[in-house]
Amino acid sequence: MRIIVTKDYDEMSKVAARMVASQLILKPDSILGLATGGTPVGFYKELVRLYNEGTFDFKDVKTFNLDEYLGLSKDNPQSYYYYMMENLFKHVNIDLNNVHIPDGMAEDVARECKEYERKIKEAGGIDLQVLGIGNNGHIGFNEPDVKFEAETHMVNLDEETIQANSRFFNSIEEVPTRAISMGIKTIMHARKIILLASGTGKADIIREAVHGGITPDVPASILQLHPDVTFILDKEAASKLS
Ligand code: F6R
Repeated sequence: MRIIVTKDYDEMSKVAARMVASQLILKPDSILGLATGGTPVGFYKELVRLYNEGTFDFKDVKTFNLDEYLGLSKDNPQSYYYYMMENLFKHVNIDLNNVHIPDGMAEDVARECKEYERKIKEAGGIDLQVLGIGNNGHIGFNEPDVKFEAETHMVNLDEETIQANSRFFNSIEEVPTRAISMGIKTIMHARKIILLASGTGKADIIREAVHGGITPDVPASILQLHPDVTFILDKEAASKLS
């Protein structure tokens, strides 16, 4: 595991964007795994800025997002599809046929999960996966007590996650309680992983994920076993690392 500690949120975002830009320059038809949430907003902004400089593009890139809320349609401003359009896709030359986000309105959820996993495999697997981390150690929406061997599946969100994500909704009652998420196995199969974390609120869980035991209670702890993972942290998120 590599750990990069940056001076602040902006630098964390820039380091992450440069790593993705470098991936796309070296392999223009990369398969990217993408995350949503508050943390990567600055990263997407910087990635779009670098794209506008013209050294790489998204013409041949395929993307797979980590997760989507169940019950939210693409045009719902709280859906991760909408987030991705706003933060990245509408600013770059990606072919929307190459964009994959689990369908939150799928009637047959089990089938949607299977299909999603099949599409990732068919594309050749994920070259570079971007992750955030929940306060409870989740990656994707793989909550504590996770099955490490799980592929894309339906999850019931923890109270803590619902509480944390309620800041993006008008009220906590509006936060969906279920989602579709790539599994830990799907994530661990990515060839390269970067995880972004910012702020003192993430310091305890970052310490556990990096220095604690590998346990389903801290889903991100499994990343200690990945051969090519980089944590990009601002100094607050890194403040409890020894
Ligand atoms: C988002 C995702 C989640 C978030 C995590 C942190 O696609 O899979 O694991 O990365 O909940 O969210 P923020 O960045 O809002 O603290």
